Amino acid sequence: QKGGFKHFMLKEIFEQPRVIADCLAGRVQRGSERVALPELEAMDAPERLFIVACGTSYHAGLWGMYLMEQWAGIPTRVEIASELRYREPVLGPGDTVLAISQSGETADTLAGMHLAKARGARVIGLCNVVGSSVAREADVVVHTQAGPEISVASTKAMCSQLTLLTLMAMVFGQKKGVLPADVAAHCVPALEGLPALLDGILPALRERAKELCRVYSEARSFLFLGRGLCYPLALEGALKLKEISYIHAEGYAAGEMKHGPIALIDPKFPTFALAPHDGLYPKVKSNLQEVQARGGKIIALTQPGADLDVDHPWEIPAAWGPLSTFLMLPALQLFAYEMADYLGKDVDQPRNLAKSVTVE
Ligand code: F6R
Repeated sequence: QKGGFKHFMLKEIFEQPRVIADCLAGRVQRGSERVALPELEAMDAPERLFIVACGTSYHAGLWGMYLMEQWAGIPTRVEIASELRYREPVLGPGDTVLAISQSGETADTLAGMHLAKARGARVIGLCNVVGSSVAREADVVVHTQAGPEISVASTKAMCSQLTLLTLMAMVFGQKKGVLPADVAAHCVPALEGLPALLDGILPALRERAKELCRVYSEARSFLFLGRGLCYPLALEGALKLKEISYIHAEGYAAGEMKHGPIALIDPKFPTFALAPHDGLYPKVKSNLQEVQARGGKIIALTQPGADLDVDHPWEIPAAWGPLSTFLMLPALQLFAYEMADYLGKDVDQPRNLAKSVTVE
């Protein structure tokens, strides 16, 4: 059942190239710039969008916000479902809610959907389980083709959510006629190349994760830093580490460091930085220099061309634009996985957690 892997989590991390390919099948075509999501064919692009989710799915939603705004010009907010349901959000007919859930049974996410429907908003479900409550109750459902996810810690489901959010942002941008020309020209070919690219680097990512977790296995706490699209990834890297290795970790927007968390930095409090060689790189670099000035150790995911002088650089290949995410995410997942396994934790069944959170 585990296909020769030690844990379901590891198997599911290694399934991600296939997951991306399955999510693209029938939706993008070689030689065409256009993306087709028949599920959304009949609807106009939202005027504004509320994304509602919990946990890892919430992090996927935060990532999706950047693309919805940049590529489709849709004002987007991302809401933790358990917060939205007890607020009085300004939400009504004409609004669109996107509920993201792997299981489709998360109680808070469903409650957020019910609230949206009661107020006359349109609900799109982005969901991995066919026939689940989210899939049944949404006005429109887009399925993430990740296949069954057994490990409690979500990995390939997030990869599938990010793939579909990329496609949805493109479809809405196409519908509104605002999709930036470089996105139209480059995104589909880059997506198509992604499964092979990721497949080729996964074994090396795992080896590097193994090495690094041995160096840092005595850390009591970790800071994960990122900016822009890497901010949701920093949150996700911290969540993965804490939920399966039980090492405390905090994900932070790198620019917020000096507003408090920098006080924590010392040689025993390592930082895991996301520092791809993109437009925000100089900013992240200067944040990391602030960490180093206080004696903090740093692991940094970087790309060719970055000139970071940190304790443990972890170079990954470049991918087009936001698609670098799909190479960084497995590095974070594998770091958490190898750490938990090295520390002898029950990787697939972490204490106190359930796969599907059907109660509040
Ligand atoms: C973390 C994890 C959880 C889920 C959250 C939402 O690894 O699995 O944070 O992401 O419980 O679950 P779904 O997506 O099923 O609504």
